[in-house]
Amino acid sequence: MASTELPRRLVLGSSAAAALGGMLTGFGTGRMSSPREATAVNADGYLPFYGKHQRGILDAQQTHAVFAGWDLHWRAGSKKDQLRALLQMLTDDAARLASGRGVLADTEPEMAQPPCQLSLTAGVGQALLDVAGHGHIGTMPEFPGDQLQERYGQSDLLIQFCAQDPTVLHHAVRAVSKNLRGLATRRFAQTGFIQPAEHGFRNLFGQLDGINNPAGQLREAAVFGSGQDSWIEHGTTLALRRFEMDLDGWDAVDRAGRDYALGRRQSDGAPLSGQQVDDPVDVHAANELGLPKIAANAHVALARPASGEEVIHRRGYNFAGETSGLLFASYQRDPATSFIPLQHRLAAADALNTWLKPVGSGLYAILPGVREGCYLGQTWLEAV
Ligand code: HEM
Repeated sequence: MASTELPRRLVLGSSAAAALGGMLTGFGTGRMSSPREATAVNADGYLPFYGKHQRGILDAQQTHAVFAGWDLHWRAGSKKDQLRALLQMLTDDAARLASGRGVLADTEPEMAQPPCQLSLTAGVGQALLDVAGHGHIGTMPEFPGDQLQERYGQSDLLIQFCAQDPTVLHHAVRAVSKNLRGLATRRFAQTGFIQPAEHGFRNLFGQLDGINNPAGQLREAAVFGSGQDSWIEHGTTLALRRFEMDLDGWDAVDRAGRDYALGRRQSDGAPLSGQQVDDPVDVHAANELGLPKIAANAHVALARPASGEEVIHRRGYNFAGETSGLLFASYQRDPATSFIPLQHRLAAADALNTWLKPVGSGLYAILPGVREGCYLGQTWLEAV
């Protein structure tokens, strides 16, 4: 297991050191970190690994991400024991990397410094829940319009790596991948980036994305709310979908058409029913002719939650290369009552669909956070 001593090369600012010290002693006495402690970051960008929840969920979005998925290999013997051993190794790797150290036997440990707010967020698909004999999230249904490619499909294990720096990030991905070699085959490593704006970030359509994300207690309730089964308490779920964007087709759409399809202005993100970016999306607002200001099939009209149960926390990333688009990622307590009905509604009628091609899809149980001396998934694996 990872050592409790602070990494020697890590120079903590005084407030972060105090917060981290509080976390380390707090866990010993059963006290969980306060939200303030949980978000403590020092000048070198150290996101404390240990905590009630995994990092990379409620943290401000880092600028770079890799979503990597692996399918496990099984040897003779207990699959559950093999899964436990893998998660123990992964916990050690993640704790080391997040604190700016290389993994054990790292050939390039220098690349882990400074950690640049590196976070590793680990999740498992239903196949691994079945191996554990415990827990149910189901699999992602196929939605109308899906053109799914096997290489971006559901994997057994998923790690969302995020950092403010791509070198540190890719070192972490490589270090973990090297350690998983022989135990699992990597199905994908999907790279993403954003440039944070005051409200969300600009996606590759040019829209401000992430404006109407829940905040504060509403967000915590949507992601970690009460009523969860005990195996996933303090954990959550991740819906990951890869949408290719037809940017050439989008080029042919004028501003009015773009704003109409979204229901918000591309320029400043204001809803077509209001003036300011933070005005509410009012689907009943009408113009002087009595016509709705926001079309019924506009993205925001269909995406707004039909009930409190449907609230999701989006944390997506742009991708670009041979194809370009959005790595849609959302965290929610129960996908069956939130993400899935929402995605069905959008897949059926969203005006943006004309320029979108969903090629990847997966659903993961995101394990609870880890206490010092414990490993990722321990409460889940040892519950039965
Ligand atoms: C490439 C695909 C997508 C693009 C380009 C996109 C873009 C946007 C943009 C620009 C906004 C308005 C700003 C904001 O509030 O963030 C928005 C809002 C939203 N989107 Fe998407 N989105 C995509 C896919 C999805 C999917 C798959 C879902 C869920 C199944 C979703 C759920 C939402 C929600 C819940 C809102 C906030 C609606 C509100 O309450 O105002 N989006 N999206």
